[in-house]
Amino acid sequence: MTAIGIHDIAIATGHHVLELDDLAERLGVDPAKYHVGIGQDAFSVPAPDEDIVTMGAAAAKEVIDRHGVDGIRTVLFATESGVDQSKAAGVFVHGLLGLPQSVRVVELKQACYGGTAAVQLALGIIARSPQERVLVIAADVARYDVDTAAEPTQGAGAAALLISADPDLIEIEPAAGVFTADVDDFWRPNDRSTALVDGRLSVTAYVDAFVGAWDDLVAQGGPGYEDIARWVHHQPFTKMAIKAHRKLAQHVGQPFDESELAVGFTYNKQTGNTYTASIWIALAALLDLDDELDGQRLAMFSYGSGSVGELLTGIVRAGYRTHRREGRVRAVLDARVPLTVDAYRELHAAGAATSEDTDRPRVTTAPYRFAGVRGGARRYEPTAQD
Ligand code: COA
Repeated sequence: MTAIGIHDIAIATGHHVLELDDLAERLGVDPAKYHVGIGQDAFSVPAPDEDIVTMGAAAAKEVIDRHGVDGIRTVLFATESGVDQSKAAGVFVHGLLGLPQSVRVVELKQACYGGTAAVQLALGIIARSPQERVLVIAADVARYDVDTAAEPTQGAGAAALLISADPDLIEIEPAAGVFTADVDDFWRPNDRSTALVDGRLSVTAYVDAFVGAWDDLVAQGGPGYEDIARWVHHQPFTKMAIKAHRKLAQHVGQPFDESELAVGFTYNKQTGNTYTASIWIALAALLDLDDELDGQRLAMFSYGSGSVGELLTGIVRAGYRTHRREGRVRAVLDARVPLTVDAYRELHAAGAATSEDTDRPRVTTAPYRFAGVRGGARRYEPTAQD
């Protein structure tokens, strides 16, 4: 059977960055709590003319620029921070990128897990029609109330994946481990623009989903623990992955050296939580920065509070190193404009979605911008002016 999997990945993030050292100083917290205790260094903050659509479109543009649109008949947009209760964010991206009309577009939601469901749907489509390719976009703005324990674990970012037959990067294996449990660890009611979270419960819920998904993967005939060379985890904060992996290692009776996960944390420590995009940004870091992956098996654990977990495995394709994008990702991260804590909190206070007509100031330098609301509808446009 033809290999099906991830052909390309591109990453985008917000225009601004808040260094957690600055937040620690403002809140009178030891910075080591953030750098070591939760494992984060900074988080991205969108400009007033950015959101999930502009970040998702920026990442998708990079993929389309490299591969064109031939064979793309499906766009799946996963997000927890949707901008409309009806219209899929991917339809705005479809318009911005000028994709053909003979394309289906839909939005998927289950907290941070939605992007993985999108990848599974894409694999199914390509299994039936191997000549097709599916554009998966995962984009989120992680917003919690200020002066809460969750404030340092905010973030913003997007990942675009091209799923295809005979992929350049990773062949996804058929067995997957899945797990669902109804639990209130994190949620966002319809009248709120910030999420509610029980941080302690989210740790145990994540661990339960990870171990449960592992047991299911084994039951489905998946590989043994010792057959997995590298692990990639969803990272609401990078320490979460270490906590969960420690439990899994105990569960299977194997040693665990937490430094093994460090490479996959490289980008997420800078972007902060990107919800649906988090696992794919972690995967991008591993592919960009680990030289020893030719033919190796990766396990990828996706978790969405509420809760759904899924554990996928895949074989890294020989030659993946010729498709590395480290320079591009570094440039995107380094180009972010630092905010003071006051400026960040001002942006945060103005961040709630609105259907009131408004114009957004020109700030972002990303390819696309959110121009504002006119006639109750959100308007997007290319950033470059003719
Ligand atoms: N140096 C080093 N580590 C320190 C420290 C210091 N000076 N001060 C505290 N720490 C450690 C604590 O020991 C703790 O480590 P542990 O968890 O291994 O015990 C860690 O830092 C966090 O401290 P704690 O006081 O427990 O954290 P908190 O009450 O501020 O909340 C989170 C931390 C992560 C729970 C909170 O930020 C949160 O809820 N974030 C959102 C999580 C989320 O999004 N979940 C849903 C998706 S899965």
